[in-house]
Amino acid sequence: MAEAPESTLMEKVVNLAKRRGFIFPSAEIYGGFRSTYDYGPLGVQMLRNVKNAWWRSMVQNRDDVVGLDAAILSPPAIWAASGHLTTFSDPMVDCRNCNERFRADHIGDTCPSCGSKDLTDARDFQLMFKTHAGPVEDDGSVAYLRPETAQGMFTNFLNVQTTSRKKPPFGIAQIGKSFRNEITPGNFVFRTREFEQMEMEFFVPPAEAQQWFEYWVAQRYEWYLDLGMPAEKLQLRPHDADELSHYSAGTTDIEFQFPWGWGELEGVANRTDYDLKAHSSASGSSLEYYDQASNERYTPYVIEPAAGATRAMMAFLLAAYDEDEVGGELRTVLRLDWRLAPIQVAVLPLSKKPELEPLAREVLGKLQQHFYCDYDATQSIGKRYRRQDEVGTPWCVTVDFDSLEDGAVTVRERDSTDQVRVALDHLIAELINRTQR
Ligand code: GAP
Repeated sequence: MAEAPESTLMEKVVNLAKRRGFIFPSAEIYGGFRSTYDYGPLGVQMLRNVKNAWWRSMVQNRDDVVGLDAAILSPPAIWAASGHLTTFSDPMVDCRNCNERFRADHIGDTCPSCGSKDLTDARDFQLMFKTHAGPVEDDGSVAYLRPETAQGMFTNFLNVQTTSRKKPPFGIAQIGKSFRNEITPGNFVFRTREFEQMEMEFFVPPAEAQQWFEYWVAQRYEWYLDLGMPAEKLQLRPHDADELSHYSAGTTDIEFQFPWGWGELEGVANRTDYDLKAHSSASGSSLEYYDQASNERYTPYVIEPAAGATRAMMAFLLAAYDEDEVGGELRTVLRLDWRLAPIQVAVLPLSKKPELEPLAREVLGKLQQHFYCDYDATQSIGKRYRRQDEVGTPWCVTVDFDSLEDGAVTVRERDSTDQVRVALDHLIAELINRTQR
């Protein structure tokens, strides 16, 4: 397998993402808008596949985790109690000469933009987006866009626990948008101001916290491997004591080797009873759990695996990008796991001749019951295979003139480019069988 040089990998993936409809710069016709991005037809599907793979492993395949979809708009009281209003900020300095603003811990005593030494003292810059709910813009109507999905799981802890009748250890999972007014967004969708998170809060008896923390670090690492991430591109990094978030007694990051170096994909944290206690005391509503069996009341500890969906999608794209040679020609191929590929099966009638269309469409209709499919009848078959390889389609099904006679089609596999003839009656079973390998 040819390895794409790291220095240009990022450029190639960003170009491919734009050219093939994965990710577009947002508001591009107006010159773009501050590191925001829109997900095109293939991108929205791949992002959904990433989120579905997470939901399947965290909720569907378990009986100790349930789902939640909490509001994005939230009152200041939540963020006062969680500590975000006071601690979720970066120290910033302004250059009085050119008016640029920088993170104080990223620069020395001169402005990196104009070289002036005339800088303000560092001031804390709040990272939460503030807005107003309702028609009146006063202090009483202030609302924040959530900077993490987690707080919805804490404030609903008892609602969920009592309605689902779960007992610790159990978890609440949520996927959704979060917003942070990042000072230095960048590296494509690695750091943006609007992004999607996949978070799970796992509530446990305090004495079991460490064992569950280790369990979730291992589980989450396995999830990336299982979806095809190469082990040499992943590492676990425990946080030093001085970099822990205000709520954490221990955090281990799962990191991916991005083209510029190791970067966080996900943090697994032991949030202790910090959040539940903070909300209990600020709201006056107890968030303790009453264990009927032991007649004990306690505040559970929380183990939190917190991942970025958009960041994970970017990492899967980077890891999957490859170039090799097929029939003496250079080809670009995304070696995506079939579960993540935006198109799982492409149906390609060999020619545009009308005789082939009815059978090809019949095959498409059957495959669509099981897979995300594309139908493409234009250009030479070789060109169409390349187009599918480039977006990671694992299987192409070609309907030719023989198919009309023998009731069979050709199945071509992306990575090996191997082709086999398969009877139409066995096509679905054959492809489902391939997903199990
Ligand atoms: N509830 C804990 C929490 O939010 P975090 O480490 O700040 O922890 C979790 O965020 C994950 O969310 C990160 O590992 C990253 O994948 C993603 N994430 C955070 N900020 C992001 C940003 N500005 N752009 C894209 N993804 C981001």
